[in-house]
Amino acid sequence: MSTHSETRRLTCRDIQARKGGQPVVCLTAYTATMARLLDPHVDILLVGDSLGMVIYGMETTLAVTLDMMIGHGRAVVRASRQACVVVDMPFGSYQESPAQAFRNAARVMAETGCAAVKLEGGRELADTIAFLTARGIPVMAHVGLKPQSVHVLGGFRAQGRDQDEAQAILADAHAVAEAGAFCIVVEGTVEPVARQLTTEVAAPTIGIGASPACDGQVLVTEDMLGLFNEFRPRFVKRYADLSTAVADAAQAYADEVRSRAFPGPEHCFGVKKG
Ligand code: KIV
Repeated sequence: MSTHSETRRLTCRDIQARKGGQPVVCLTAYTATMARLLDPHVDILLVGDSLGMVIYGMETTLAVTLDMMIGHGRAVVRASRQACVVVDMPFGSYQESPAQAFRNAARVMAETGCAAVKLEGGRELADTIAFLTARGIPVMAHVGLKPQSVHVLGGFRAQGRDQDEAQAILADAHAVAEAGAFCIVVEGTVEPVARQLTTEVAAPTIGIGASPACDGQVLVTEDMLGLFNEFRPRFVKRYADLSTAVADAAQAYADEVRSRAFPGPEHCFGVKKG
């Protein structure tokens, strides 16, 4: 008999084995509440550094710290049972050298209990990815639009439209896959490039704004729930309108507090019924 407590957590190898098979389902989670809700439905919970913008109201992800990622990563691991949990390495915590990346990634793995870390970058990170993988740290890579490089890229815009950009993304994907990345996020990349690299590399590709040609998909949960309205990229599909639900509930609560309809006797202690 199988009980919930016996549920086996998906591993990086399970995800790797899905190449070309059943699509990999990934959503971001930053809190225990959201992780608990999403866990039964997804293969990967990604503690993305997008939390800087979604939770902390930052304009970019650049000011997110390792301690922030560790705190949120720990909450997500604690509240989930079956998803493979991957934690983003924030800007400045891995680019300097393989040794710096190992030191910080080892801290993330040890202090959160996650299965893997994610690094944004391509060819320039191949040595680092090989270094981490050889030392027991599985790596999810991230190519195409890399939000931590937003100032170099000149803004959040789709990548791979011209030949040079397309060749660069393909070379990045090959480099990170050959270095040992167990899967690759492909963000904001035109369909022909996403399709070609998915066909060519051995690691599963997980697209966000990169077409259904990828081996799986990821979205920022607050985007797909209609909870984050600061900007609305074209690639986001809204599966709910929770902003309206939250505003309506807050208004109903405020009305009832002001009219003294809440709390009712059923919400009070020591009130005799009848
Ligand atoms: O930070 C993040 O949430 C991400 C995903 C959007 C892929 O990197």
